[in-house]
Order: sequence, then structure tokens, then C-alpha cells
Amino acid sequence: MTWQEQYSENIMKSASLPSAELVRGEGAYVWDSEGTKYLDFLGGIAVLSLGHAHPVLVKAVSEQIATLGHVSNYFATPPQLELAERLLRLTGGDRVYFCNSGAEAIEAGIKLARRTGRPRILSLQNSFHGRTMGSLSLTGKPALREAFEPLLPNIEHIDSAIEALEKAMGPDVAALFVEPIKGEAGVVDLPEGYLEAAREITARHGALLILDEIQTGAGRTGAWFAFQKTGIVPDAIALAKGIGGGVPIGALVAYGAAAELLVAGQHGSTYGGNPLVTAAANAVLGEIERAGLVENAERQGIAIRKALVGLPLVEDIRGQGLLIGVGLSKPVGAAVVASAAAEGLIVNAPNDTSIRLAPALIIGDAEVSEFIEKFTKALEANA
Ligand SMILES: Cc1ncc(COP(=O)(O)O)c(C=O)c1O
Repeated sequence: MTWQEQYSENIMKSASLPSAELVRGEGAYVWDSEGTKYLDFLGGIAVLSLGHAHPVLVKAVSEQIATLGHVSNYFATPPQLELAERLLRLTGGDRVYFCNSGAEAIEAGIKLARRTGRPRILSLQNSFHGRTMGSLSLTGKPALREAFEPLLPNIEHIDSAIEALEKAMGPDVAALFVEPIKGEAGVVDLPEGYLEAAREITARHGALLILDEIQTGAGRTGAWFAFQKTGIVPDAIALAKGIGGGVPIGALVAYGAAAELLVAGQHGSTYGGNPLVTAAANAVLGEIERAGLVENAERQGIAIRKALVGLPLVEDIRGQGLLIGVGLSKPVGAAVVASAAAEGLIVNAPNDTSIRLAPALIIGDAEVSEFIEKFTKALEANA
């Protein structure tokens, strides 16, 4: 049986057939089962902060599973306590809740919102917050929601203009959920000043501002967390993806009074914050700090942007740091992805007119040059 047959016969049809079977990775490269080598500029969708098989992560996970892999939330463990302190130091937050994925971090945020006692929740049109029923309720893409309705009530998806927020806001709004950059929408930036205005408006109405930094966090945008470029203090931030570098972990960091909203017995998860995944996140975040990868993300992001200007099909360049959206002048996203793969380059197209780049934060000048060479060919093939 081929891997395609195995996949088609055995795996639920919730996703389409993958384009390759990957068997090994190292740094910014992966290999498929036919021996083809790819430069990975998607990074497991903004997950692989340290790239593939980074020795620091391999060592931390290997040592932790050999020492104490899992307990339960009846017990504390040193890696969990260390990660809590580290995340609070990096985010400026007051308390953290640990879970296993981005969607679960959003679910925890929805629970915070419910605890305000207010019924309505706002999120943005074209946003993506996850696929569980609660996070899907917030996701502003009707095509993803429709098959699963009824979802959570009293959720409104508003336009990303500041005026729309002002209009929708009221004393019955519990929270606004916002991605600092809409990743799944094609890496789409918010209007200038949106987060600052959202902070002022939510605060004025006593509503929570909950930021979804699942895709933008852990140094990817050239700041530890994207909101830190604005100087605002949110009520909570949802984290996952890049903090674990490939090991499934999610977290909700809360600030001030919002950090006290959940009380004993109100939330939990079997695996949340277990020693294995928290040791992994400590290793990832520690290495990002030690190796100056936040600065590297900013520097290489600037280099990539500069090199993209003027290439065929490139209409605009969005995002920050190493979360980059390339707007195409023709709806050939899928064809560009296929041409890139033929050149030995992995990128993705969140929609017909956007290519998303989210490489490992460890990439250097050589990988950037190789990317530009391969990507240029993929664009030329479809121009
Ligand atoms: C901004 C954002 N929020 C939430 C999620 C959901 O995270 P997960 O797939 O880990 O549940 C994603 C995943 O792509 C995301 O990009």
C-alpha cells in the first residue's frame, strides 16, 4: 500500500490528502519518504521556533521523559513552575493556565469572559481562533462554522475598523478577542492603531481584551509577543504553537483582575502543564533568549521583505518579523505552493491570493538566499 492509500483509507476525511509524507527533519530542512529535501519555510505553521530536531529541545524532552513524564494536576513539578515564572517574566502577566493547544487556550479565554457575568463576546470577521466548538464560535469565517451550528450564542464577528468596535461595544460585552495579525486570513495586519484603540474602548466599557498570540507569539514577529510593540497591557493572551516548538502545549496568560477570575475547580485538563511539555517549552524559550532569536526574526524578516519587493506576482508584503504574508496579483496561491514544492521549498497558501511564510526563527543568511532563489522560480512559473 502507498502512504496515500493508507492515509485515504484510515484517516478521517476532515482534511484533504497531504502532498508528501515527511520522514525526517534537521534545522530548516525536511526530507520526504522519496528522499526529496525541502527548505521548510512554513515551520509546521509557525510552530517550529527552533526548526527541526534542535539539540536543545531533543535533550530537554529526552531527559524529562526519562525522569518524570507526567503526573496529574494534583501535583506540581519543577518544569511547570519554571515555565510559569518564565512566561510571566516574558509577557508581564500575573497568572498562567496551561493546556495543550491553541484552541484550548482560547477556550480558557472564553471561560474568563463568561466569568465576567456579561453575555456578549466580540471577535473579528475573517479571524481564526481554532476548531473546537467554543473557539470555532469566535472564528470569523462562516464557511468553517456553518456545518457545526448552533455554536455558542451571543458572539458577534465585527469588521476590523475601530468604528465597528466602538459601535458594537456596550455594558453587556464580556470580551473582545483579537489576533494582532490575522494569520489564517493570509497574514493580514490590523489597521494602524487598532490594538491601542481596542484597549482604550474595552477598558472604558469594562470589557476584557483577549489577544490571540497563538501564531504571533514566541518571538516570531520580532518582539516576544506582538502586542509588546504597542505598549498596551491586555487582560489575557492565548499562546500555543511557537512556545512548544513542536511539542503540543497551550497557555493562557492573564493580567491584573482577569488573572483572578477562575477559581479552584473551574477549569483543567489532564495533560495541561505536564512536566514533559513544560520542560520542552522551557528549552525552546530559553534557547530563543540565549541565541537572540527574537532579534534574528526581526533581522531576517527585514531581509526577506526587501528581497521580495519587485518579484513577479508580488502585490503586497504583510505581517511582521518572520510571519510574512505575500499578496499575489493573481489567484494562483495553490499553484505557487506546488511550484515551490517542485523546487524543494515548503510554503503555504491560506487563500488563493496569499502565500504565508513562517520559517524557524533560527534561519540565517544562507537559508534566506536559498528561499529567495527557489521562491522566485515558483513565482515566475505562475506569472
Ligand atoms: C491565531 C490562531 N488561533 C488559534 C489557533 C488554533 O490553534 P490549535 O490548532 O493549536 O488548536 C490557530 C491555529 O492555526 C491560530 O493560528
